[in-house]
Amino acid sequence: MSNCISTPYFAAVNSIKEYNIKQTENCGKQPAAFVLTLGCQQNEADSEKIKGMAEDMGYVVSDSPDGVDLIVVNTCAIREHAEQRALSLIGQYKHLKANNPDLIIAICGCMTSRPERADLLRQSYPYVDIVFGTTALDRLPEYILNRMKGSKRIFTANEDFSVVEGLPIKRESSFKAWVSVMYGCNNFCSYCIVPYVRGRERSRTPKDIAEEVKNAVMNGYKEITLLGQNVNSYGSDTGGECDFPSLLESLAKIEGDFTLRFMTSHPKDVSDRLIAVMSENEKVAKHFHLPLQSGSDKVLKEMNRKYDSKKYLSTVEKLRAAMPDIAITSDIIVGFPGESEDDFEKTLDVVAKAEFDMIYPFIYSPREGTPAAKREDMIPDNIKSERFDRLIDLQNELSRKKNEAWVGRTLRVLVDGMSKKGNGLYTGRTDGGKLVHINSEKIKIGEFAEIKITGADTYALYSDER
Ligand code: 5AD
Ligand code: SF4
Repeated sequence: MSNCISTPYFAAVNSIKEYNIKQTENCGKQPAAFVLTLGCQQNEADSEKIKGMAEDMGYVVSDSPDGVDLIVVNTCAIREHAEQRALSLIGQYKHLKANNPDLIIAICGCMTSRPERADLLRQSYPYVDIVFGTTALDRLPEYILNRMKGSKRIFTANEDFSVVEGLPIKRESSFKAWVSVMYGCNNFCSYCIVPYVRGRERSRTPKDIAEEVKNAVMNGYKEITLLGQNVNSYGSDTGGECDFPSLLESLAKIEGDFTLRFMTSHPKDVSDRLIAVMSENEKVAKHFHLPLQSGSDKVLKEMNRKYDSKKYLSTVEKLRAAMPDIAITSDIIVGFPGESEDDFEKTLDVVAKAEFDMIYPFIYSPREGTPAAKREDMIPDNIKSERFDRLIDLQNELSRKKNEAWVGRTLRVLVDGMSKKGNGLYTGRTDGGKLVHINSEKIKIGEFAEIKITGADTYALYSDER
């Protein structure tokens, strides 16, 4: 079910705005807000809404926490390290509160949706004012207003799981836009915390999504990335009238010069129709992110992934048969409980056969509350890191070969920034999402360009034809 933003939301936004206008008049400086984003693209998309709300409330969005009046930390919980990082960053804001007692510090995102972490924030971080879950974004102005009026510290759990439409968005980029198509996950992979912190799958309506995409395209956005934990199950919670391939096909018909990307797809249900829609529509980028997680059928079963290595490789084959230039990337977890040397070698074997363009490798991190975390056959850290290094070595070799195969070809890239390598080089992304360092005077950030690939290494492509 989707709801529009409510009357209490507008009332709170207007009250805070009035207050901030008065503050600006009195102090000669507009109150500022800082939003720190940790974790995945879904959090980045949520933070763009938080920044949109902050602007509507009369704050100027700052890129530093120093001297601001509102700090929002949007946290991640996918691995232990992500939570430790969030807690350490939150710890650094204690002195800011000491300097400015009116500063409001709010923490949201996946970590705060875990009751044990919310309790920790309550007990050990007394300078934190507001802790709210992933589903309560639209309540933020009300919480801030209540706290400004002197209410007790605010701690709320995820309660209302409906989709809220109409929140303002302040996008980070002027040419790349995130568009969520659904929220939550029903898959309960045995290692993963996401279904517990983001709730069950909720799809937005095709109409709301199309409007957002049309709007972005009209405003000059060149790359639209559709987001969901498993986009393949888009629409299954709303009666299945419009599934993901149909959604993608209809969005690809929107007029304008733009590329459509999507992530993430669960390998258990990549349909032939999705592959057909991708290959038949020029606007859909030829990039597929298809998390393998493990190449061992035993481990995949214990992960509750609902596919085996054979099915996975047959999907890779179908994708390459339909789109020979497609880039395929993957997520892999090493050191899942009970993973034997033989299981790990099976992962290496599937990685070699799949010939991924790139992988995101992760060391298994036990997440309290998930079935895998209860197991007693944890893999020692030294073995996990040794496997991690071996996996990276293999993939580096594959990535280099894959990248070298592009040398000599002319590709369309979206120029997206200046290269960290300096020397006036630009960076761009190919249709397959590969990074290119470009040496050219004829290109412009935020626009597509045709460039010739003249070099490649493990991590990037190069175009050097000034
Ligand atoms: N430990 C390590 N990696 C994990 N991921 C999800 N949960 C865990 C965990 N407990 C990885 C998966 C997923 C990616 C987003 O994060 O590979 O695809
Ligand atoms: Fe986590 Fe699995 Fe859902 Fe991905 S599909 S978010 S790994 S539970």
